[in-house]
Amino acid sequence: MEKIVFPEDFVWGLATASYQIEGAYAEDGKGESIWDRFSHTPGKVFNGDTGDVACDHYHRSKEDVSLMKEIGLDSYRFSLSWPRILPNGTGQPNQAGIDFYKKLIEQLLNASIDPMVTLYHWDLPQSLQDKGGWVNRDVAKYFAEYAGIVFQELGDVVDKWITHNEPWVAAFNGYSSGEHAPGIRDNYASVQAAHHLLLSHGLAVARYRELGLSGEIGITLNVNPTYPATDSKEDQKAADIYDDYINGWFLEPLFKGSYPQELLAIYQQKLGPIPIDQEDMAVISQEIDFLGINYYSRAIVKDNPAAELLKFDTVANKDAKYTAMGWEIYPEGLYDILLIINQKYTAKPLFITENGAAFPDQISTDGRVHDQERIEYLRQHLEMADRALKAGIPLKGYYFWSLMDNFEWAYGYSKRFGFIFIDYANQQKRILKDSAYWYQDVIKNNGLTL
Ligand code: BGC
Repeated sequence: MEKIVFPEDFVWGLATASYQIEGAYAEDGKGESIWDRFSHTPGKVFNGDTGDVACDHYHRSKEDVSLMKEIGLDSYRFSLSWPRILPNGTGQPNQAGIDFYKKLIEQLLNASIDPMVTLYHWDLPQSLQDKGGWVNRDVAKYFAEYAGIVFQELGDVVDKWITHNEPWVAAFNGYSSGEHAPGIRDNYASVQAAHHLLLSHGLAVARYRELGLSGEIGITLNVNPTYPATDSKEDQKAADIYDDYINGWFLEPLFKGSYPQELLAIYQQKLGPIPIDQEDMAVISQEIDFLGINYYSRAIVKDNPAAELLKFDTVANKDAKYTAMGWEIYPEGLYDILLIINQKYTAKPLFITENGAAFPDQISTDGRVHDQERIEYLRQHLEMADRALKAGIPLKGYYFWSLMDNFEWAYGYSKRFGFIFIDYANQQKRILKDSAYWYQDVIKNNGLTL
């Protein structure tokens, strides 16, 4: 049995997002978000679930923070609801919304838990969607305004900021596959949206620097290390394009100030010219303080000349184990992608801002939730984080997804990712799963036995 110990200042956390947990969707002056609109549209979310109540965290933040304290978290990553702060996306701020977050942050600081705050985890104000959403370049400007207000209100008590969570998902699930709000299916729109999301990130970072605040700011990307299905030239090429599509499309602009050339050429040829202003790439690639990585699984890619647009398919590994999302459990991918990012894109500090797994958890007869498969998943991934640290990767902290079961987007409440079980049918009772007690030990020992 090998014991692994993490660096002394390693940050242990758990993560959530506003729409997935808060509820109170129309309370205290909050405006409508695109996820309110989308989930209220029949047929969009499994079982007709909505985030109207979610985990009712808006009314239970005190209890939730005390559970975080019980687990022993160093830090808690959460996102702000833009329409709670600016009901119309721009214009007059809503003081009650700002006060909710001020109170939450105060509760966290009193419990010695550092807040890590994400500005955008997909709940765009609907009134900005009515102006075109992320396809409209002006929305990047509105985002920077919103960021400025938030930095001024909370910048003295929060010192870790994330502009966007997974802009790939916001752009491509929102505007291309339409699985997510706003539910648009238009490849060209998705590429435009991706560019404006990146631009808005850059504008917000610039705003942060102008204000001279002393904290740190970064962005969080979803990444999938990509492997060809065979060693044929065709599959290798398909894997390279997939890698550009999912990873390079964001990593390269952020750290090199350009888009992957081959994929850009394909988009421009097949979809039409992508409007990129000259100065945009400099705005997007200005220096950030850290990069957040969300890692869940890998991609195995095969050439498919008959496929739409990018001519690849992803294929399953039939020997692997899968989570309840149907995602392959592949811990080595975490190590691989950390190395690739460090070697190819940036030597900046890295945080794992999400990693975790859904399983069909249930309350057992002893009243507890025995989520052994999740513990195995977590253990295997921490082993890879340790390997990355030993290889010299500047990994500074690890946030698992998620603090509690929550609204899993198009899957509604059917998928559970939490360390805390939410008994939705029984007044939202919170039950710490075995994984939460396991994590408590990891944090206490600053390490684990493999
Ligand atoms: C997102 C979370 C989501 C999780 C599991 C990430 O893509 O940031 O909001 O719940 O993955 O699907």
